Amino acid sequence: MSSLIRYITAGESHGQALVVILEGIPSGVKLKADYIDRELKRRQVGYGRGSRMQIEKDKVKILSGVRQGKTLGSPIALLIPNLDWKNWEKVMAVEKQDEQLPSLTHPRPGHADLAGGIKYGFYDLRNVLERASARETAARVATGAVCRKVLEEFDIHLYSRVIEIGREKDEDEWNLIFAKYPLIEKSILRCADKEVEERMKRLIDEAKKKGDTLGGVFEIVAAGLPVGLGDYIQWDLKLDARLAMALMSIQAIVGVEIGLGFKAAKRFGSEVQDEIFYQGERGFYRKTNNCGGVEGGMSNAEPLVVRAAMKPLSTLARPLSSVDVVSREKVKASRERSDVCAVPAASVIGEAVVGIEIARAMREKFSGDSLAEMKRNYLSYQDYVRER
Ligand SMILES: Cc1cc2nc3c(=O)[nH]c(=O)nc-3n(C[C@H](O)[C@H](O)[C@H](O)COP(=O)(O)O)c2cc1C
Repeated sequence: MSSLIRYITAGESHGQALVVILEGIPSGVKLKADYIDRELKRRQVGYGRGSRMQIEKDKVKILSGVRQGKTLGSPIALLIPNLDWKNWEKVMAVEKQDEQLPSLTHPRPGHADLAGGIKYGFYDLRNVLERASARETAARVATGAVCRKVLEEFDIHLYSRVIEIGREKDEDEWNLIFAKYPLIEKSILRCADKEVEERMKRLIDEAKKKGDTLGGVFEIVAAGLPVGLGDYIQWDLKLDARLAMALMSIQAIVGVEIGLGFKAAKRFGSEVQDEIFYQGERGFYRKTNNCGGVEGGMSNAEPLVVRAAMKPLSTLARPLSSVDVVSREKVKASRERSDVCAVPAASVIGEAVVGIEIARAMREKFSGDSLAEMKRNYLSYQDYVRER
């Protein structure tokens, strides 16, 4: 997949820091560390999260690619220090320590522990879980914040909410997200319906009491996309495919749907497709958005509506059965510090990765080394769309 915007993350969960190198952001975008920190803070909310969320008050350091408050067009390096590093200096030291450190040899079902240990030749499974951990998503949220700043310049805005936790569900239609957003942002579970939120909280309390965990479903809406982001001409350029990959790459995400998604499979075509209308001022438009803003791998200028399902977290306070990778004895799985439910955080991460994909597609479509050039190209395209 050729893209002008690309990024790579590095860092272990309890290592010194997470690092990102992000390339392809045009010059001239106003960017402050505070803006990224706000997004990092949003990732840290949630009812049913473990003690690490109290330790972590993530703050980013912008190391390169920004000068005097504006991007330079050069690679942006971001660093998020681990504020608990002093407690991990020995365990995670780069240099070999004299002291013998305990190994983690009881792989947790549902984690990368066993397959990763076999694949990389480790018996101490900490070597695997440190990188497989969802702590890495803080780096993606920071990356997403930079991309979001670009999108705001084009009046593209992202929203997310939690719609299901375990069996509890918020039945609101996706388009209510705009009106209810202030409530969603204030809610500890990112749920606008107070009654459903209370039921979700009770379910999380119940899971916690039982030493169990919960998953759920979150929804991302992106408004303001121009027509034609992504492409129909090649499989790996399709916007829906790219969004699915971005969301599936978030730890614990097991399913993605766009628009009606799985519901569409149960209906007649006449109940699913969004009929096309035309009116002078408005141009082409739809009365429904069952396809979630994507047709033929391209945005159709309707709001993008994507949902992702998160499995219940794999580390249980009442651990599941496992086998010691050294002794081969039956044991209980390791118990790293763990959340009971992280769906609200996952929804913020989802916003970030969706924002990254939209920004990549925008830069592909409108190119431009500077924001000004990208905007000129965008505006001339929008004029063309209006006039044709
Ligand atoms: C925001 C977030 C927080 C998570 N917290 C935990 C946790 O505390 N305990 C846990 O076992 N898994 C947690 N996970 C899920 C694991 O990271 C994930 O299941 C594991 O790395 C295996 O990857 P996979 O589920 O994608 O196959 C979290 C995931 C996310 C997105």
